[in-house]
Amino acid sequence: MVSRVNTVAFQGVEAVIIDVQVMIAPGKMGMSIVGLPDKAVAESRERVQAALHASGLSMPPKKVTVNLAPADLPKEGSHYDLPIAVCLMAALGALPGDALQSYVVLGELSLDGTISAVAGVLPAAIGANRQDKGLICPHACGPEAAWAGAEIDILAPRSLIALANHFRGTQVLSRPEPVMRQRADDLPDLADIKGQETAKRALEVAAAGNHNLLLIGPPGSGKSMLAQRLPSILPPLSPRELLDVSMIASIAGELAGGKLSDRRPFRAPHHSASMAAMVGGGFRARPGEVSLAHNGVLFLDEFPEFTPQVLDSLRQPLETGDCMIARANHRVSYPAQIQLVAAMNPCRCGMAGEPGHRCARGPRCQSDYQARISGPLLDRIDLRIDVPAVSASDLIRPSQAERSHVVAERVARARAIQKRRYETLGLPNVSTNAHCSAALIEQIAAPDAGGAALLKDASEQMKFSARAYHRILKVARTLADLDGAEKVGRLHLAEAISYRMSGERTMSTA
Ligand SMILES: Nc1ncnc2c1ncn2[C@@H]1O[C@H](COP(=O)(O)OP(=O)(O)OP(=O)(O)O)[C@@H](O)[C@H]1O
Ligand SMILES: [Mg+2]
Repeated sequence: MVSRVNTVAFQGVEAVIIDVQVMIAPGKMGMSIVGLPDKAVAESRERVQAALHASGLSMPPKKVTVNLAPADLPKEGSHYDLPIAVCLMAALGALPGDALQSYVVLGELSLDGTISAVAGVLPAAIGANRQDKGLICPHACGPEAAWAGAEIDILAPRSLIALANHFRGTQVLSRPEPVMRQRADDLPDLADIKGQETAKRALEVAAAGNHNLLLIGPPGSGKSMLAQRLPSILPPLSPRELLDVSMIASIAGELAGGKLSDRRPFRAPHHSASMAAMVGGGFRARPGEVSLAHNGVLFLDEFPEFTPQVLDSLRQPLETGDCMIARANHRVSYPAQIQLVAAMNPCRCGMAGEPGHRCARGPRCQSDYQARISGPLLDRIDLRIDVPAVSASDLIRPSQAERSHVVAERVARARAIQKRRYETLGLPNVSTNAHCSAALIEQIAAPDAGGAALLKDASEQMKFSARAYHRILKVARTLADLDGAEKVGRLHLAEAISYRMSGERTMSTA
């Protein structure tokens, strides 16, 4: 007789239902797993046998065959331990096979029969819910699974024995509760930064419209400091965004304690990051930094120090908002709607453009360094800001800078205007100006006569690309939203163009 139970395999953030079948038949004693298992799944044989033994069940002296169907889909990860063990227990009569039919099961086993946490419980719970099934998952992941819906039946046992006791009715498991991570007010504050008013204004504009930002300046001027303070002025995630972000974090195994947080992701990978680390791929086609930063910020400090291939791999996700990983046996897509923030020195010695400084290697110092960033990538950055060295008077004078929560309120107001606008236009998936389509921005950011003339002149003189033209309109729309203005005016456009020009100037003074 064959006993069956359902588990999942992951394809991106989608959970595909897998049928685990166990047959105990006369033959040479042993256990074999078929259905394209990877090394971790094949090793589950040892863990399952030990865990059953520790739970007081011995393997029958017969041939045990485990099939993971569909057989042509590769099975990866350690979460197949629990479904295989549960299925075996059903075949041995230790668990009721019929009751298990209404559950999707995943979890890793320790040799002593306890159930350890695994990645991907949230998407598995959502997948199970879609099939009108409950979920059996590790105890540590219960709070995470509970987010998938109040109506799902979730069992989160600590061990195989606890699960058996539940079905026997001797010790019924209670449903886990969804847990939110406590919002610690430990984010660094904008008030720490002295001077740099232009850069702070640009940071506010970038936060308000979700625009990409590049900070260029000499060492020690506060670029990294500025970028690290961006999370303190960004609005919290909406419930919908929260679920999307948590699904990716869950697949990557980064949801500590199964707790979700409404803080926007802020990912700052080191510049030695590989292509697979950045865009995803490698072992199990895991999501990369660009997807882990979905709905949040990807901060690339020391921008030109990243390898040019890694930087250029960001071009597609920046444009489409998702990241497709294609390998011989995998083709998965992860969402990657990010705000790119980058910081760099203008040249290798870091001081190009500073008054009274001459680079030792001459103009090539600057041009060689900046050539590491490709034109198309630069074209995708809306705001480019010079962050000059802080003046002595700014440093010595006591800081009267605005605190982050004041700026955050202005940002939240501008974002609310945008959200309302796009909802009225019937575009619930667009929530910020940066993600609005080019055709639409021409309508909603149509400038007044003075603004239109200015934009025409600037476009002709600076030879803006079509993308640059639209991105300037998007920034101008954000500036108008920050002002609470209905129409984009000449001043808004002038400021938007100045953010674009500042980078063009720095990049071409070599
Ligand atoms: N505007 C500022 N106000 C107050 N302190 C500052 C400011 N700028 C820099 N500092 C001080 O200098 C230190 C270094 O700043 P930060 O790391 O932001 O520089 P950076 O511009 O990123 O330099 P690098 O180009 O070398 O990475 C900070 O930890 C802080 O102590
Ligand atoms: Mg720095």
